[in-house]
Amino acid sequence: MPSEQSALPDFLFGTAWKEDRTPALTELALRMGFRGIDTANQRRHYFEAGVGQGLAAAYRAGVVTRADLFLQTKFTYQPGQDHRLPYDPAARLSDQVAQSMASSLEHLGTDHVDSYVLHGPASGYGWTDADSEVWEAMRKERDAGRTRFLGVSNVSLRHLEQMAVAHPEGPTFVQNRCYARFGWDRDVRLFCRERKIVYQGFSLLTANLQVLRHPVVTGIAARANASPAQVVFSFARAVGILPLTGTSNPEHMTQDLASVHLTLPPDAVNEIESLAG
Ligand SMILES: NC(=O)c1ccc[n+]([C@@H]2O[C@H](COP(=O)([O-])OP(=O)(O)OC[C@H]3O[C@@H](n4cnc5c(N)ncnc54)[C@H](OP(=O)(O)O)[C@@H]3O)[C@@H](O)[C@H]2O)c1
Repeated sequence: MPSEQSALPDFLFGTAWKEDRTPALTELALRMGFRGIDTANQRRHYFEAGVGQGLAAAYRAGVVTRADLFLQTKFTYQPGQDHRLPYDPAARLSDQVAQSMASSLEHLGTDHVDSYVLHGPASGYGWTDADSEVWEAMRKERDAGRTRFLGVSNVSLRHLEQMAVAHPEGPTFVQNRCYARFGWDRDVRLFCRERKIVYQGFSLLTANLQVLRHPVVTGIAARANASPAQVVFSFARAVGILPLTGTSNPEHMTQDLASVHLTLPPDAVNEIESLAG
């Protein structure tokens, strides 16, 4: 991991599906102590300009400065968008990336983000020429100083292996949905570990409701005087996952952040890792 990345936070606050509550919840998350913010220039699921309003309110109130924050946003292909596009759909993909980035920076009121992520490859089956064009355009954005790091999301091991063959430079971040029943995305996590890519996991709670109720997890939680959700977040960190939470509840924000200080015994980590893999 590059040394400048020492400012990488322990948790990312996700801003999806918050609509009109996005400004207030973003500001609240910063007041509660989150320093990493995940969003996307995809109006269908995110209100990125609302995230910018929340940031601006927190700056005005003296809660944080831009330098305290890790801001991450994404480029989303047209099929993942609704009619509210952040680019000209007739433009070449490389121009769409530049337009989407310019729009993100305007929404977020900054001259650079910390991480810029390809929201998902064009095809579920493999890395395509379209993805290569987009990735090279993203690298240009990085070289121009508009993002510090690059990432990819919703990728399989196959995508990552093909991407590694097609490009001299791989991602700094991979952001994936993390299902316990697939060994917590074991194959992709292993690839990331070998290449020093930071794996970001989302839907750690919502994709794993059966795990939260499992006696192994509820037992570990009771012994640690913690909630099952906190155990899952602590487990995630123990196996090298940088977790996201999308909570809208202030008590859950406090609990989620407190999980940073919860250290599970190694046998508990092993038990959870092998629960559903
Ligand atoms: N790259 C992608 O394609 C992609 C896809 C999906 C999400 N994401 C990112 O990941 C973020 C998080 O999404 P997510 O799917 O992980 O979560 P989420 O669905 O936004 O919310 C997490 C769920 O867990 C609950 N929760 C959180 N903390 C809890 C706690 N301590 N105890 C009990 N319940 C708790 C929340 O309920 P309360 O609100 O009541 O707390 C909510 O129902 C998104 O906002 C987005 O930024 C990215």
